[in-house]
Amino acid sequence: MGKLQDKVALITGGASGIGAATARLFVAEGAKVVLVDLNEDKGKAFEAELKALNADALFIKANITSEEEVAHIFKQAVEAFGKVDIVFNNAGIGRVHSSHDLDYAEWRNTVNVDLDGVFLVAREAIREMLRTGGGTIVNTASMYGWVGSPGSAAYNAAKGGVVNLTRSLALEYAGQNIRINALCPGFIDTPIIPEESKQELAAITPMKRLGQADEMATAVLFLASDDSSYMTGSSLIVDGGYTAQ
Ligand SMILES: NC(=O)c1ccc[n+]([C@@H]2O[C@H](COP(=O)([O-])OP(=O)(O)OC[C@H]3O[C@@H](n4cnc5c(N)ncnc54)[C@H](O)[C@@H]3O)[C@@H](O)[C@H]2O)c1
Repeated sequence: MGKLQDKVALITGGASGIGAATARLFVAEGAKVVLVDLNEDKGKAFEAELKALNADALFIKANITSEEEVAHIFKQAVEAFGKVDIVFNNAGIGRVHSSHDLDYAEWRNTVNVDLDGVFLVAREAIREMLRTGGGTIVNTASMYGWVGSPGSAAYNAAKGGVVNLTRSLALEYAGQNIRINALCPGFIDTPIIPEESKQELAAITPMKRLGQADEMATAVLFLASDDSSYMTGSSLIVDGGYTAQ
């Protein structure tokens, strides 16, 4: 029996990168998956790929920055599968930009997706889990929630916010059987990292390579499943040694 047998997992940013790799692993562990993403083409194609493997998968196009759309996602997930046990709160964006040239609109957009959106999804997840009696939430922060870097002030501020949002929500719901932890990836080989930066980022990583999305998925499975049953409010840094420097 899989580690997530009969569980329903909702994954934002589920059409690509870390979210998609996690969906594949969750399905292999027996979960039904709800994939949420802005990218409809990728999302639908991935839903079809999982269904071809006989998995229960549902793609929903939605923007995590919209309160209405986030509420609707959970409604649709419950209609389809009856409940939501696990939420991988993972959708995010990132761009490198000098701070003195950063438009306020771009700052707002980054914080809106990477922090406000994470809150909106977590809030709806908690509402659903209070209804059913519990669950687990894994928020994707970043190693840049722990250390700074030049040229990513908005992203890093938002990710630091996710780390402390995770602690605060975890404390608030620890008594209600809802565990909330964060994943803090290092440089992972996904479409969010520009091709031309990959070599340089590998070179500044102690393990001298980028991480693979599959190596995040195993960490998310740990945080989402009973394997981490005594963990809440924690951040799991999986970064090839970067923040140990
Ligand atoms: N790849 C890395 O090096 C790295 C490092 C640290 C943290 N992260 C974080 O991991 C998470 C996943 O990123 P990834 O590397 O898999 O990148 P990715 O670009 O492959 O996946 C992100 C997905 O999120 C979706 N998305 C973006 N904004 C959205 C919105 N408003 N509503 C719904 N969906 C939206 C995108 O369409 C995309 O499919 C992000 O939160 C990212 O910040 C990535």
